[in-house]
Amino acid sequence: MKKIIKNGTIVTASDTYKADILVENGVIATISKNITDSSAEVVDAEGKYVFPGGVDPHTHLEMPFGGTVSKDDFETGTKAAAFGGTTTVIDFCITNKGKPLQNSIDQWHAKSKDKAVIDYGFHLMISEMNEDVLNELPKVMDQEGITSFKVFMAYKNVFQADDGTLFKTLETAKELGGLVMVHAENGDVIDHLVNKALAKGNTDPIYHALTRPPEAEGEATGRAAQLTGLADSQLYVVHVSCEESANKIAEARKKGYDVWGETCPQYLALDQSYMDQPNFEGAKYVWSPPLREKWNQEKLWNALKTGELQTIGSDQCSFDFEGQKDLGKGDFTKIPNGGPMIEDRVSILFSEGVKKGRITLNQFVDMTSTRSAKLFGLYPKKGTISVGTDADIVIFDPNVERTISVETHHMAVDYNAFEGMKVTGEPISVLSRGEFVIKDKQFVGEVGSGEYLKRARYGKLTSDTDEAALVE
Ligand code: URP
Ligand code: ZN
Ligand code: ZN
Repeated sequence: MKKIIKNGTIVTASDTYKADILVENGVIATISKNITDSSAEVVDAEGKYVFPGGVDPHTHLEMPFGGTVSKDDFETGTKAAAFGGTTTVIDFCITNKGKPLQNSIDQWHAKSKDKAVIDYGFHLMISEMNEDVLNELPKVMDQEGITSFKVFMAYKNVFQADDGTLFKTLETAKELGGLVMVHAENGDVIDHLVNKALAKGNTDPIYHALTRPPEAEGEATGRAAQLTGLADSQLYVVHVSCEESANKIAEARKKGYDVWGETCPQYLALDQSYMDQPNFEGAKYVWSPPLREKWNQEKLWNALKTGELQTIGSDQCSFDFEGQKDLGKGDFTKIPNGGPMIEDRVSILFSEGVKKGRITLNQFVDMTSTRSAKLFGLYPKKGTISVGTDADIVIFDPNVERTISVETHHMAVDYNAFEGMKVTGEPISVLSRGEFVIKDKQFVGEVGSGEYLKRARYGKLTSDTDEAALVE
């Protein structure tokens, strides 16, 4: 059925204006003042912002990791994302050395199809770069529309790849039109520091942070940026947690390197002291890179404001406190790394960022939606409000005050990392391709309605038709 979203204030990465939106056949058909159509359902958005649906470029749903599997899957994770104002997620497909990439991609399709309630795509992990991988990648890009590759510089003996693999991946991405993503921490140095800590009997969760210092992140970020310059390629650094890493990205960009940086709400709103709580509570905050000293928060906000960092990912990788995080009682290295962030990503950015005057409203839309859509080959289908684009729309009340809590969240885990935090602003209704997924704060979507997104190569529009639709 057609819908008219009436009297809202539309906010995109560049503009803020009052207008109505007519939604028809899943796309935005008209944007104009005073639209009338007696056959359409009218949705009142007076006093509300109308944002493009959030694009979360960094999730790990139902991912095997740390001796267990992340708790939120493509159903619970995408439902929680929708409640939080996100309508697209790009999840990391984990591959296995020596096995065809397609095996892993098939596994990821099997666990997402018929489950997701919003649209989704995949990034592909690269752990080795050999003839087999080189032969398979063009097909992965053409047929699967997977155009971004993730290299881990940490997690020794698990996911970590060597510098040769990173460099060859950068060269290959340059040739094929892919975007290389890195988890930038020096895994070898961390491994050494971890062994030293354990030998001294330092086993509490706080040692997770103390054995992964900011220098190890800054060094790896700088190394990846230099290799990108050398390969004349393109790089996206995920989950930047500290000044050391943000500075390396800024330095590379000043040199003209094509380097982008993402940070996450947890690094903007939480700090290392959370990991030093008694009764193993600190384990709730164990992820990598770790939380940093509080002063880093303003450095990251400033990097976002000035454009030195560009996007916000959730790095959603949730584990229950009881039954999963407690695998690491008595040995912090066995605590599964990751946290539940998918639902609060947009709200925290709005409340801590826009409401507190750290970023503008249009920057907020750019960071939580538009920029990721552009970088990852989904724009303009996703990431903006414009005639011809998918009607992925969030109707957002900017004034409502609420407290984040496990009691009210929709993720499948038994704690919320932002428990007790007061935020201003909340998504009220959320549409995915013109259909309500959330209506008046209730889930009304359909499990399995989320579509898999084939993405364009780096720097390209989604398709010529999308461009034409916008030009008309
Ligand atoms: O601790 C984290 N971040 N877990 C998810 C995997 C990753 O490194 O992104
Ligand atoms: Zn990572
Ligand atoms: Zn991650």
